[in-house]
Amino acid sequence: MNQNLIFIFFLSCWVRFTCGYLNLYLSLLEVQRLLGLDAELYYVREGVINNYALNFVVPVPSKLDSLQFTWKSVADRPLLYAINVDASNSPSVLLPPKLNITSTGSVPTSVQTFSVTLPCSGVLAGEVDVTITINITISHTNVTTLPFRRKKICAKLENQSNSHVFVVDTAPPYSNSVNIFYVAVFLALILIVILASVITTYYIKNKKTRRTTEGSSGPSTTFLTAMPRSTVNTSYGSFRRMPSYSLIDERSKDLQERIAELTVQRCRVCLSSVILEGTFARVYQGSYTNEDGVDEAIIVKTVTDHASQIQISLLLQEGMSMYSLSHKNILSILRVSIEDHTAPFLLYPYNNYNNLKIFLQKCKLSSEGVSHTLTTQEVVDMALQIIEAMQYLHKKHLLHKDLAARNCVVDDKLRVQVADNALSRDLFPSDYHCLGDNENRPIKWLAIESLLHKTFSVSSDVWSFGVLLWELTTLAQQPYVEIDPFEMAAYLKDGYRLAQPINCPDELFAVMAYCWAMSAEERPTFTQLQICLQDFYTQLTRYV
Ligand SMILES: *[C@@H]1O[C@H](CO)[C@@H](O)[C@H](O)[C@H]1NC(C)=O
Ligand SMILES: *[C@@H]1O[C@H](CO)[C@@H](O)[C@H](O)[C@H]1NC(C)=O
Ligand SMILES: *[C@@H]1O[C@H](CO)[C@@H](O)[C@H](O)[C@H]1NC(C)=O
Repeated sequence: MNQNLIFIFFLSCWVRFTCGYLNLYLSLLEVQRLLGLDAELYYVREGVINNYALNFVVPVPSKLDSLQFTWKSVADRPLLYAINVDASNSPSVLLPPKLNITSTGSVPTSVQTFSVTLPCSGVLAGEVDVTITINITISHTNVTTLPFRRKKICAKLENQSNSHVFVVDTAPPYSNSVNIFYVAVFLALILIVILASVITTYYIKNKKTRRTTEGSSGPSTTFLTAMPRSTVNTSYGSFRRMPSYSLIDERSKDLQERIAELTVQRCRVCLSSVILEGTFARVYQGSYTNEDGVDEAIIVKTVTDHASQIQISLLLQEGMSMYSLSHKNILSILRVSIEDHTAPFLLYPYNNYNNLKIFLQKCKLSSEGVSHTLTTQEVVDMALQIIEAMQYLHKKHLLHKDLAARNCVVDDKLRVQVADNALSRDLFPSDYHCLGDNENRPIKWLAIESLLHKTFSVSSDVWSFGVLLWELTTLAQQPYVEIDPFEMAAYLKDGYRLAQPINCPDELFAVMAYCWAMSAEERPTFTQLQICLQDFYTQLTRYV
């Protein structure tokens, strides 16, 4: 086992104070200031320590020079504390930190905020590791240490150094203006380069568009000839309405052919009720009258009329990604219906299944009540079904690239099917994030290399499978909920991973942690995962 993994095991979180209760957290305001998130961050809640949060090194931007913590004792007797701030390693960057509470005392029984001031010297720029240690005495034999790790970033103060330079600098005044001259030349050069590249891109783009519009009559003819007679006109109309995929050459030609093969008339589709809904996305339950005049129960994925061409074309592309696959654990598209002036309908067979993420969340909601809670055995069984689906996909040379609970369905007998990710961005917006670019990606499910370089492989699907396994054992909690999507790459590189869920057996956690090995080669294959989980499943059934 490699070092990363050993490290992860130390993270297995939430340790309970045996007696005495404490709340210690960062207020909403402080989290907004520090991390830009709208949430409170609890380090200790009702005496339960969140080691996961404690282990996270929070960067403190140079513009912030004080940290605030909020705490309150809910114990029935005084809780003694001792606090120490250690930032001694770079005295030239950071001046001695200050606290506005005494270094020892008892935790107040009403909510109190205290601050730790970290003043930069301004003389030198740098990053300083700061550790704030709070010891809480629970009983005379037990002192619990809470270490808070921060990385304070200090900038050199420009005003200060400039004024310093002015005093010392005896160079004639023109040297300054010479400098300014060089700076101006440099800026002008940059501007020219930017202008040049803008013009070039514009030119290339123009050329490309011209070429594609010239070529676009090609694929649409193939499309037309492949169509059954009755639907030719309407499909042609809607095809024209979607210029976005006439721009994509080979693959989209492929797509059009596939769509042509599956197209049915809208009058054969009957919608009955909306089962999921996003800003643009709509998922309906309904029925489809097939060629033999028999009604089949279906699910329809579509978008509202307000959806953009890009959303429509994405719906088609993603919806068609599992086209013509046939496996008991894969939910593959059944039909497509494209009519004039309306968004396309994607039809899927419906066998009383639910979206897996929503199913898991419902399990959680009713876990106190009589309703179904998942046993470890059931979780492992579901995981094994997903593995079978993934093995089949990979055998067909397809990568999923967005394996997650939201992209699976499950029926009441816990039969799982892996589905495509069409509409998921809109139906589960909190699972997707943009990192500066315009691409909305499932950041917290992505393998490190997919996150950094957008490369995908069988092993990156394995990584996401690990996160899915974690979702199964936590009843679909949000992974890395405290971590800013922008920090994910750094966080993973530092060796942090998802913590072991409560009630998650070590064997199962070992399997998921193994999926998150930093290098793709170290991750298990789906075949290894299958053997491993099959063994574990057999062990579980042996004692029942
Ligand atoms: C001290 O407290 C910690 C955390 O509550 C607990 O895990 C540990 O068993 C306690 N140790 C003793 C000696 O009571
Ligand atoms: C906290 O406890 C640890 C070990 O129990 C000790 O080394 C450290 O000095 C204590 N810190 C403070 C601030 O009392
Ligand atoms: C410490 O300072 C913070 C912010 O400056 C303030 O909100 C808080 O009330 C202070 N706490 C105490 C105990 O003085």
